Amino acid sequence: MAFVCLADFQAFAKDNLPKSTWEFIEGGADECITRDENISAYKKIRLRPRFLRDMSVVDTKTTIQGSEISFPVCIAPTGFHCLCWPDGEQSTAKAAEAMNICYVTSTYSSCFYDDIVAGAPNGLRWIQLYVQRDRKITKKLIQKVESLGYKALVLTVDTPALGNRLQDNRNRFSFPALLSTKNIHVPIEENSESLLSVSSIDSSTSWKDIAWLKSITQMPIILKGILTREDAELAISHNVQGILVSNHGGRQLDTVPATIDALTEVVNAVQGRIEVYLDGGIRTGTDVLKALALGARCVFLGRPILWGLTYKGEEGVRQVLNLLKKEFYRSMVFTGCRSISEISQDLVQFSKL
Ligand code: FNR
Repeated sequence: MAFVCLADFQAFAKDNLPKSTWEFIEGGADECITRDENISAYKKIRLRPRFLRDMSVVDTKTTIQGSEISFPVCIAPTGFHCLCWPDGEQSTAKAAEAMNICYVTSTYSSCFYDDIVAGAPNGLRWIQLYVQRDRKITKKLIQKVESLGYKALVLTVDTPALGNRLQDNRNRFSFPALLSTKNIHVPIEENSESLLSVSSIDSSTSWKDIAWLKSITQMPIILKGILTREDAELAISHNVQGILVSNHGGRQLDTVPATIDALTEVVNAVQGRIEVYLDGGIRTGTDVLKALALGARCVFLGRPILWGLTYKGEEGVRQVLNLLKKEFYRSMVFTGCRSISEISQDLVQFSKL
């Protein structure tokens, strides 16, 4: 089978994963309106090509929080990579290191953080945090990963409760005990509902916890899940260093806007004061270009990484990333952008399709 676009990896994963695992990965909340719009919203944006600009040298490199990455696509946090490949997160981390991009490791990793880092010691890694009800566990986790060389803390703000995922409910989906949340020492019994109801996540988390987090870590803090100008303003007034515009891949509150549609509101509120990133529905190189043109500094991939992992572990993730890198490079060539700094809003127009 030839893999010529990200959708080919998706088809492979669908055919090869157990049905309930596939539906867990692919699923969105309720009617999946937001999950699907994350993708379809890009198709309504048109590009304005520019020519005769000497495109013999094109540089895709950029930086996030001061660290260089080879192109503006990184890996979003997703839990339980061992559902897709035996050594799960270790393979993902190796692929990210080989590609010189950032891997955001989930709180709910199915490999120990030490093993993930040992497999890819030189990779750029950020940690995603779900604040645990037991704050001592949260503090220990943060201090552990900081000592392991994690460079930023990505606080997921959109999960005070778990989204209502109908297929998981129908399948009574539960995580194998082996994949329990190794790093936070909250044992999950086989068939337990405790993770699906995210009972260990502290739903009392609020803006005042940013100061608490700052008191226990030197890592810059990035808020993942901001979708409105009001919360973007609050993020800035609480001195965080970045915002990741995300709707959790449409897995939390259904019918919130597609992330590419929410991006402009957040970017306009932020006014360049901190870095703004985006995830959700990135499937082609032109999607990446459009997100950057509208103000994202970098985008993150969720499900496509899991499809690559299912196909061939580290090699599969690399193939996914390489394919997207080539597509992105080509889209820069066609729009006359020789470097990331030349990507601007003039490249896009919105059609009324
Ligand atoms: C996620 N996501 C997620 N987010 C997070 O902050 N912590 C997590 O542990 C997880 N786990 C997770 C598992 C699975 C299977 C999926 C599909 C997603 C959300 C993820 O970080 C990201 O926001 C979306 O996946 C981005 O959308 P795409 O690229 O999947 O369309």
